[in-house]
Amino acid sequence: MNDQVAVVTGGGGGLGLAVCRSLAQTGITVVCLDIGNAAERAAKALGEEGLAIEHQQCDVTNSAATIELSDNILAHHGQIDILINLAGVARNAKLVDVTDEDFDLTLSSNVRGTMNMMRTFAPHMKERGYGRIINTSSVAALGSIAGTSYTAAKGAIEAMTRTAAMELARYGITVNCVAPGIINTGMFQKQPERARNHMLDRTPMRRSGEPMEIAAGYRFLSSPDASYVTGQTLYVCGGVSVGDFR
Ligand SMILES: NC(=O)c1ccc[n+]([C@@H]2O[C@H](COP(=O)([O-])OP(=O)(O)OC[C@H]3O[C@@H](n4cnc5c(N)ncnc54)[C@H](O)[C@@H]3O)[C@@H](O)[C@H]2O)c1
Repeated sequence: MNDQVAVVTGGGGGLGLAVCRSLAQTGITVVCLDIGNAAERAAKALGEEGLAIEHQQCDVTNSAATIELSDNILAHHGQIDILINLAGVARNAKLVDVTDEDFDLTLSSNVRGTMNMMRTFAPHMKERGYGRIINTSSVAALGSIAGTSYTAAKGAIEAMTRTAAMELARYGITVNCVAPGIINTGMFQKQPERARNHMLDRTPMRRSGEPMEIAAGYRFLSSPDASYVTGQTLYVCGGVSVGDFR
């Protein structure tokens, strides 16, 4: 895979860093995108591990910015083989307490961002007759108390993944989704202790996943080995998705 180019949104986040690392270790050229200086920090951290990745500042909800970004990457590398959409914000509140601002931020960063990136990169992949797109859901998509905005966003991403897979299959492009359970990263660590304990209690493996364990799912779906897998959501969640009968 060392002649391939991957773009990873939210690459400066906890899981994003692990995904960038995992792809870079296979020799893929990785372009890490994030807002603020998060992508730059990720590139620096991986550089210290001896892994060179590129970084760009880009708000995935801004279609003009993603088109410019895609043009720049194509001018520089000539191809984009893999698009991984991890960027997203989670705002948790019970239904009656959801604010318009938090709902809009969660939906736009996750759903609009994912749609926008796919819409920007799909034409190039269609032209080449090859592409791997991997989006990000969550076990929360199955239902989660105080997760109205987030579950709406992640459910929409799973549905949009299936539709994009159907539209793009004939062009050699696969579109799949990874739905992590609890990952030992910022998003989980920022939850109140009570919520963290509740989540761990609902996980049959009784532990959070390490970022590299989740990244392995992205790496498989990014690879040529996943050539007959499309439209699927791979739950990498320590067993949460199989039920809760306690
Ligand atoms: N951590 C978990 O337990 C967990 C569980 C299930 C799913 N997920 C999903 O995995 C993904 C990564 O989660 P994480 O734990 O690394 O969270 P994180 O908050 O560490 O990373 C998310 C990254 O997305 C970036 N981002 C947000 N809005 C953006 C925008 N508009 N444009 C570009 N970048 C933007 C943030 O700056 C951040 O670096 C998210 O989609 C999250 O919903 C996480």
